[in-house]
Amino acid sequence: MEALLWSLLLLLLQAAKGYSGNDVATEEVVAVFQESISLPLEIPADEEVEDIIWSSYGRLATVVLGKETQLATVMVANPRYEGRVSFLDTSNSLHISNLSWEDSGPYQAQVNLRTSQISTMQHYNLRVYRRLSEPRVTVNFEIAQEDGCNISLTCSVEKAGLDVTYSWISWEDGMDTVHESSALSTSWRPGDNAVSYTCRASNPVSSITSRLIPAGLFCADLGFPLKKATYFCLLAKGLLLLLLIVILAAGLWLIRAQKRCQMPRMRKLKRNRLWLKKKEKPRPSLA
Ligand SMILES: *[C@@H]1O[C@H](CO)[C@@H](O)[C@H](O)[C@H]1NC(C)=O
Ligand SMILES: *[C@@H]1O[C@H](CO)[C@@H](O)[C@H](O)[C@H]1NC(C)=O
Repeated sequence: MEALLWSLLLLLLQAAKGYSGNDVATEEVVAVFQESISLPLEIPADEEVEDIIWSSYGRLATVVLGKETQLATVMVANPRYEGRVSFLDTSNSLHISNLSWEDSGPYQAQVNLRTSQISTMQHYNLRVYRRLSEPRVTVNFEIAQEDGCNISLTCSVEKAGLDVTYSWISWEDGMDTVHESSALSTSWRPGDNAVSYTCRASNPVSSITSRLIPAGLFCADLGFPLKKATYFCLLAKGLLLLLLIVILAAGLWLIRAQKRCQMPRMRKLKRNRLWLKKKEKPRPSLA
């Protein structure tokens, strides 16, 4: 039973690696734009390698392996790869640096063995992708008559390239729901739970999420239709400025009112003193 399971697993693994029966298998390799990649070779341990011929749409480079402690020598045939390829003796792999979009495509390595005088072929398919930048989210909402609002969220990434998948993740009471699409439509009514959304963009070399979008925020406390989130921001800023002006005006008015209250009392005091002086003066003449 266990042996059967193992052989099934092996079959599955081979299917996943793209084996098609004979020894021609294509290894899928993904790499990052302007970074580097290693194309690994499988060389039988008891075999001595004479040379390896690398090609991709024509001859790329010939690697002649050194004997014993000598290092391999690399002769680059395609000028587009000049200065960018090297052979790593330790891992028997071809290293290509500063990858460009033109580097994607099929690669072959023909390994010529010295001892058995045969050669084996290894095939690769290289795909180059850019690391994705943070997704940009566009929020559109419409306020309905009965206080509710319909929200549509759209997620995009600049210079996304190929093989990008988008998903929306909504968070409600610690539970998350995944919606596989770049666009999401939802609605919100006053009293509904606060639901937050994030968008995740992925490609074969990266995965990045947007900041959290609290959807209810766009709909709550707005009595009139606003089409875009930016308008809401402008309105908030305007209200804040108005509030500042009101506070300033109230402060000025209070200061002036206080001055006006103090002035009549001072005048009264002066008058009282004058009256006292007048009253005191006649006294000596009387005596
Ligand atoms: C990588 O290649 C581009 C052209 O494809 C070149 O402009 C750039 O200078 C290279 N960068 C490095 C680090 O070699
Ligand atoms: C919101 O969507 C519902 C259907 O989901 C629709 O019946 C309603 O008219 C929409 N409201 C607005 C204001 O667009």
